[in-house]
Amino acid sequence: MTAFSALEKLKRGETLTKEEFLALITTDETDEALRAAAQEKQERVFGKNIYLRGLIEISSFCKNDCFYCGLRASNCAAQRYRLTKEDILESAKEGYAEGLRTFVLQGGEDPHFTAAHVADIVKALKAAFPDAAVTLSLGEQSEETYALWRRAGADRYLLRHETATKAHYKKLHPALMQFENRMECLRTLKALGFQVGAGFMVGSPFQTAVHLAEDLLFLQSFRPHMIGIGPFLPQKDTPFSAFPAGDLQTVLRLLSILRLGHEKVLLPATTALATLSPVGREKAILAGANVVMPNLSPKTVLGKYAIYDNKAQESLSEVRQKIEKIGYSTPITRGDYQ
Ligand code: 5AD
Repeated sequence: MTAFSALEKLKRGETLTKEEFLALITTDETDEALRAAAQEKQERVFGKNIYLRGLIEISSFCKNDCFYCGLRASNCAAQRYRLTKEDILESAKEGYAEGLRTFVLQGGEDPHFTAAHVADIVKALKAAFPDAAVTLSLGEQSEETYALWRRAGADRYLLRHETATKAHYKKLHPALMQFENRMECLRTLKALGFQVGAGFMVGSPFQTAVHLAEDLLFLQSFRPHMIGIGPFLPQKDTPFSAFPAGDLQTVLRLLSILRLGHEKVLLPATTALATLSPVGREKAILAGANVVMPNLSPKTVLGKYAIYDNKAQESLSEVRQKIEKIGYSTPITRGDYQ
């Protein structure tokens, strides 16, 4: 089983086995061919379009205690804040004026943001910007809560599965957090009609190539509309502060594999990748990514949503410049999954 024959299968749109994914993940021999094929596929499906989403980080409070994340409840050094409904509407208004047509409300699992409160904010956003999509990224919730948010008008939901291997999941999360619950949340979100995003960190502590192959297998069967991947980056006040960051080449390789296996998927060039390398976003786009999520949070809170150290802070205009410089454009559109 060579990586090259696995690549040919991917190009033909066939499903891969775990061994075939492993072969692609563990060699650099196919990297150039993978990148070229992914770029070609991306251009055939999306042209030179890169879809922008305005990210609004609504709360840095979190009741969870994930070992990798700087917002974990046990982190006494974290700076905590919450945005008000007015802050959120104002950020969206600024983004709308700049041409953004998707707003992503992301936050820790903050009990202050009750189901009803979030539903109220979603309704207000949809009323103020009827031609914009609203994406939520607020962690694990009950089916009732997800259903309420869907009825309020939320279009999409991002919930990375983090790792598709239960034993690895346990090494990244405290016992209270259950792998089965996370997977069940993803299935529920899909059943409720959300466009759903899954995803994982690359190079997270204890991760092996076999874990990554399992992630690709899971995505191949779950078929999310969006897939968020980025390198693990250490955060100094977490139990994982001394672990090394994930590596750029592996992230790029995985982006290309994902583009080839999921031709229509919305695949962000993540902020974590931009943090790992000053040319991370550009390289991601050239490897198959077609979404960028510039930060719209108010200036007063920038730097306080510290899930990892040294988080890249690029303005919308900087992000646009980078994209245009490599020959892509950023149309004014919701950029839904087709
Ligand atoms: N490094 C990289 N990504 C991280 N995330 C959380 N902490 C880190 C970290 N230290 C990712 C998780 C989460 C998403 C919002 O950010 O995958 O789902």
